[in-house]
Amino acid sequence: MANKKDLDQTYTAIDRIFRLSIGEMADFSGAKYDGDFSRSLEYAQHEKHRYVAKSLNITKDSRVLDMGCGWGGFMNFIKEEIGASCLGLTMSRGQALACERNGFDVLVKDCRKVTVDEIGKFDSIVCIGALEHFCSIEEWKEGNQERIYREFFKTVYDLLLPGGKVYIQSMVFGENMIDYKDIKITAKKDTPSHLMALMIKEFPGSWLPYGTKMISRSAAPYFRLISKNSGRLDYIETIRQWRIRFRAFSIYKYAIYLSLLFKFLFKGQLKDRFTIFSTSPNKRCFEKGIMDHYRMVFEKNEDFLCNN
Ligand SMILES: C[S@@+](CC[C@H](N)C(=O)[O-])C[C@H]1O[C@@H](n2cnc3c(N)ncnc32)[C@H](O)[C@@H]1O
Repeated sequence: MANKKDLDQTYTAIDRIFRLSIGEMADFSGAKYDGDFSRSLEYAQHEKHRYVAKSLNITKDSRVLDMGCGWGGFMNFIKEEIGASCLGLTMSRGQALACERNGFDVLVKDCRKVTVDEIGKFDSIVCIGALEHFCSIEEWKEGNQERIYREFFKTVYDLLLPGGKVYIQSMVFGENMIDYKDIKITAKKDTPSHLMALMIKEFPGSWLPYGTKMISRSAAPYFRLISKNSGRLDYIETIRQWRIRFRAFSIYKYAIYLSLLFKFLFKGQLKDRFTIFSTSPNKRCFEKGIMDHYRMVFEKNEDFLCNN
């Protein structure tokens, strides 16, 4: 899985730039436009929050766990609009500090391993954009990917009260995913080979599930899948909006870009970082069907309790 160092490289490194560009408590995951791309990014993120809360029947009396809470977008919705209590878990130190400053209850903890003794039980659990980081390339090569997801779902099962539901939102490999052996950073630009090589550099320690079937199969001992829909087109628009905002000029933000430039130069990562920023490999992978993106709702399979 992506460890703390990997996730700090992905998220803590861009902490200030993200908050200045997208918003102090903004979401860093696909929004929900429902086919209307004239809507604002903020509206579409809010629609996603409403959809998740409705899918999980969250009320003001619910206790909610946000696994991989980012900068607290969903926690803010739960607190402000529903009035329920919410605990966030993240592996990024920068995100945790930002969440604390904004008054959220947050812990830096691996959500795959957290126990009831440590954090108690919950009525609802969400995991938006974190599952992507649970399995590394090495773990996949060793044949451990499904075991990792299955153990994660066991953790979620133990943390959920009877009748509880979990919402999973994740990128997955799509029907045009290529063979691993064909992934090459030296390949021609904008080919699947080159785009996937950039994805690996952008998200170290992270390898995606092969479609939703792999996720639901891993969940099956503990959960029943009750709904699923693709957010691939929504994610393309979300990334398009992020890119406009990341580029929008402010002296303070561009000064941070400059300091990052020196940092990446010093670490020998400048060329890769620049190519990632100018190419947007995740957007291109969605557009080419190399990746897809799904929203899935699972309910607890109480039979598991009877049989074990
Ligand atoms: C793409 S961000 C999504 C953040 C947030 N859910 C949102 O929608 O804005 C992925 C998040 O998952 C977290 N994450 C990844 N692996 C994790 C793990 N094993 N335990 C806890 N958090 C993890 C990262 O730290 C980050 O906060």
